[in-house]
Amino acid sequence: MSHPPVEPGTIAIIGAGTMGAGIAQVAAAGGWTVELMDVSPPVAHAAVAGIGTRLDRLVEKGRLTAAARDDIASRLLVATCANCLAGSDIVLEAIVEDLDVKTAVLTGVLPALRDDAIIATNTSSLSVTELGDRIGRPSRTVGMHFFNPAPLMKLVEVIAGRHTDAAVVDRVAAVGASWGKVVARAADVPGFIVNHVARPYYLEAFRILEDGFAPVAVIDGAMKTLGGFRMGPFELTDLIGQDVNAATTRSVWAQLDHPPLLHPSRVQERLVAGGHLGRKSGRGVYDHSGEAPTPALAVEARSLAMSDELATSVDAFVAGASTGTGSALERYVFARVLVSIIAQGALANERGVADRADIDAALMYGVNYPKGPFTWADEIGIATCCRLLDALNATVSDGRFAVPESLSSRV
Ligand SMILES: NC(=O)c1ccc[n+]([C@@H]2O[C@H](COP(=O)([O-])OP(=O)(O)OC[C@H]3O[C@@H](n4cnc5c(N)ncnc54)[C@H](O)[C@@H]3O)[C@@H](O)[C@H]2O)c1
Repeated sequence: MSHPPVEPGTIAIIGAGTMGAGIAQVAAAGGWTVELMDVSPPVAHAAVAGIGTRLDRLVEKGRLTAAARDDIASRLLVATCANCLAGSDIVLEAIVEDLDVKTAVLTGVLPALRDDAIIATNTSSLSVTELGDRIGRPSRTVGMHFFNPAPLMKLVEVIAGRHTDAAVVDRVAAVGASWGKVVARAADVPGFIVNHVARPYYLEAFRILEDGFAPVAVIDGAMKTLGGFRMGPFELTDLIGQDVNAATTRSVWAQLDHPPLLHPSRVQERLVAGGHLGRKSGRGVYDHSGEAPTPALAVEARSLAMSDELATSVDAFVAGASTGTGSALERYVFARVLVSIIAQGALANERGVADRADIDAALMYGVNYPKGPFTWADEIGIATCCRLLDALNATVSDGRFAVPESLSSRV
């Protein structure tokens, strides 16, 4: 979707932690004046200094001129009082993920703001609608969900709350695009697009492990070599943090009324309970204490016995999805995980979370998938995807591979 040109304005960013600092850099580089505010002013000053260091590195690498660095730095200001935000066109909050805290902070600054100021939230999991209602500005509150690290990740999800003015949504989408981001519009549903549609990448990998069909290295390897994913699901969850990843799953699963495809993984929950959180704790699915990570999670191995129908469906699916070859087990792993993402994408689209192009863009630019699920499904063939889902569904008791209506209707 093309966006109208945007005249740079002033954005106040409240919360100068990981995300607030990253978004401040993006906005200042996009020509906007940034008022950065934190409950702890030294944190905001440190964030500005940190951005300066990052910009210096870009200059050293020849990716930014010294003049451009000085220009960007001159637009980064620290705000220490609500009145400093009076001239802001947009106030974006990137405060801790707590609705009460976000509500209290925004309510505190609102009297100082212009009536037409847009209130944007970087929340990953809270309801934009509820935040807008709570602060009494439902029509001007919108989600602007960046990904970490914000200066590098291309995606911003723009989320319309139930009462958000269409013009407000269009405006922040245009602003995001003017900052060089790929904009995906999403409805106000748990997990928006990425944290919702990408869940089977982790969950189905964990379930294959629970089934005992394939060990850790085979699962991660299959997704990288056959799928072209940059990281396998276990490498990625160890990087994200098993606790963070499992908490997102739990929250999305509960808020969406417990769909079986998004059911939390027992193995992952055990990792979390045991303190095996991934890289940050030295051990997760992998042991990270040595030079290279080594698989640290052994499960009882069981051999995979595929019916003729399942084996044929897997091979047809892989032939359309990948240029790689691989063992029968690797093909099964890749096909089962990818078709689950395709099904989840279709379910999200049916529920009105986002249109197909936005779901594809969100997964490519928010989590670096080589292709979006709808593009992949079209290349593979919808009938082939449906046949594989049917064959997989015959092997489980929870019905999680049931073919979504929007796929079966296209066969
Ligand atoms: N970290 C991620 O990968 C990521 C990605 C997308 C969205 N988010 C969302 O962005 C938001 C911020 O996350 P983060 O990772 O940057 O957290 P963070 O802990 O790094 O930063 C939060 C900042 O908020 C400040 N803060 C706390 N209470 C405040 C208050 N009353 N007034 C002003 N500032 C206050 C803290 O001092 C801290 O600097 C959360 O809503 C989170 O869900 C995080």
